[in-house]
Amino acid sequence: MSRDVTLAGVRHAFVEAGTGRRVDALAGIDLTIAAGELVAVVGPSGCGKTTILHLVAGMLTADAGEVRCGGTPVTGIGTDRVLVFQDGALFPWLTVLENITFGPRAQGRPLDPALLDALGLTGAEARYPKELSGGMRQRVALARALAVDPDVLLLDEPFGALDALSREQLQGVLEDAWLREGSGRARKTMILVTHSVEEAVRLADRVVVVSPRPAVVREVFVIDAPRPRDVTALGEVRRAIGRAVREG
Ligand SMILES: Nc1ncnc2c1ncn2[C@@H]1O[C@H](COP(=O)(O)OP(=O)(O)OP(=O)(O)O)[C@@H](O)[C@H]1O
Ligand SMILES: [Mg+2]
Repeated sequence: MSRDVTLAGVRHAFVEAGTGRRVDALAGIDLTIAAGELVAVVGPSGCGKTTILHLVAGMLTADAGEVRCGGTPVTGIGTDRVLVFQDGALFPWLTVLENITFGPRAQGRPLDPALLDALGLTGAEARYPKELSGGMRQRVALARALAVDPDVLLLDEPFGALDALSREQLQGVLEDAWLREGSGRARKTMILVTHSVEEAVRLADRVVVVSPRPAVVREVFVIDAPRPRDVTALGEVRRAIGRAVREG
């Protein structure tokens, strides 16, 4: 099943543990992501992008406004929404295969055997995370998230720490995994937080630019170029997004 995600007037503030200071992160986020849509969120560092993902994941609760998934208010975490962290956050004591099958095992269902192949992990099943390169670890993190077959995949700068080549490869892997689901099965709804405007225009149906903290949605760019995309041909929209981010 595919689900839409809606944030309506979502506000969130943190209270710093050390100082007791209140940090207004989100000042009223209004955003609807259609079922099966891939939306990228870009904005200056510290503006509240991760906070948005954590609210949709149900790891945080909004101070005001509402977060809905498939029309139902989000009240906590659930296997219908899975978050991929920037650093992979694998279980170090489990092998590659055990990491990936962790979710399906908990759900009492088998692992889709095509997944390891699709992510280029065949042959690496018995290795431990510390024995893998950064790129491989992110592949495992992606495989572990996809193995749960969530309706909504939340990605927090999943390729941020990778070199350009691995980054490009994994963007392709993610795009393929998403596109493959178009025939027959419902495509996943994806929210991709990234610092890379190039990555955003390569992958997203729409790019959402968030203002500096306290964040609101500043501007939304529709990218309707056919896939796979040649980002060099999308210079104009890339520059426009870059300007929107800089000008906040
Ligand atoms: N637990 C917390 N306690 C206090 N302040 C917090 C907490 N978590 C986040 N913040 C603050 O809230 C703001 C938004 O944080 P968030 O992590 O969502 O930003 P971000 O856009 O993801 O930044 P980056 O691009 O650097 O990852 C920041 O100013 C951050 O310092
Ligand atoms: Mg962040």
